Amino acid sequence: MELFEAMRCAPTSRRFKPDPVPRQALVRALENARFAPSGGNRQGWRVIVVEDAGRRAALRDLYLPRWRAYLEQTGGARMLAEPDSFDAARVRMVQRADDYAEGLEQVPTHLVVGVRLADLAVTDAELPRQSIVGGASVYPFVQNLLLGLRAEGLGAALTTLLVPAEAEVKRLLEIPDEIALAAHIGVGYRAGPWPARLARRPVEEFAFAERYGEPLA
Ligand SMILES: Cc1cc2nc3c(=O)[nH]c(=O)nc-3n(C[C@H](O)[C@H](O)[C@H](O)COP(=O)(O)O)c2cc1C
Repeated sequence: MELFEAMRCAPTSRRFKPDPVPRQALVRALENARFAPSGGNRQGWRVIVVEDAGRRAALRDLYLPRWRAYLEQTGGARMLAEPDSFDAARVRMVQRADDYAEGLEQVPTHLVVGVRLADLAVTDAELPRQSIVGGASVYPFVQNLLLGLRAEGLGAALTTLLVPAEAEVKRLLEIPDEIALAAHIGVGYRAGPWPARLARRPVEEFAFAERYGEPLA
């Protein structure tokens, strides 16, 4: 698959066929994703591939209460209860995300991505705001992985709601203390067709010339 095409059409897939994910395709995606950048090239990412039905169900049981709490906090629960009062496209997305959460154990392959905390270069740790830089040493790898999976014809859903359940997930998958959870990626062959285009803001809304707000074009 051509690079720009993969970048423009790697949507969140939340409905999957039951077919298993071929191990070679998964390994190829990981093999290419590992060329991602990281602070000091420390490559602290770790990936656990979960396919066992019991463990997938256990991950679902950890995910679901966090998803339900998130739905309540963000107003998603009201959208599902009164769909006619909200934008139809938004309601569809929340409904798909809800169906994904309820049936998470049916997703054929679960990737649990962690990162070795000692490998993170957290250059904004002292600033009086929340730190975001640590993630920069793992999420480029995660995005590379999503693109690699897309190139293999596999759908994927990146979520972070298992991170608050880190202690339980680490116990379940025997992840050592030094590793922090960064993401969960559900992987499988997409049930429906790929979308023709994704809804994203145009460049002029986020990229500026010389000074913030100055048009680039
Ligand atoms: C940090 C992060 C967290 C996300 N969490 C969830 C989630 O909890 N549940 C979900 O269904 N999708 C989740 N997503 C997927 C987003 O909803 C998705 O990227 C966005 O709606 C764009 O969708 P599209 O690529 O299909 O157009 C998450 C994405 C990111 C980057």
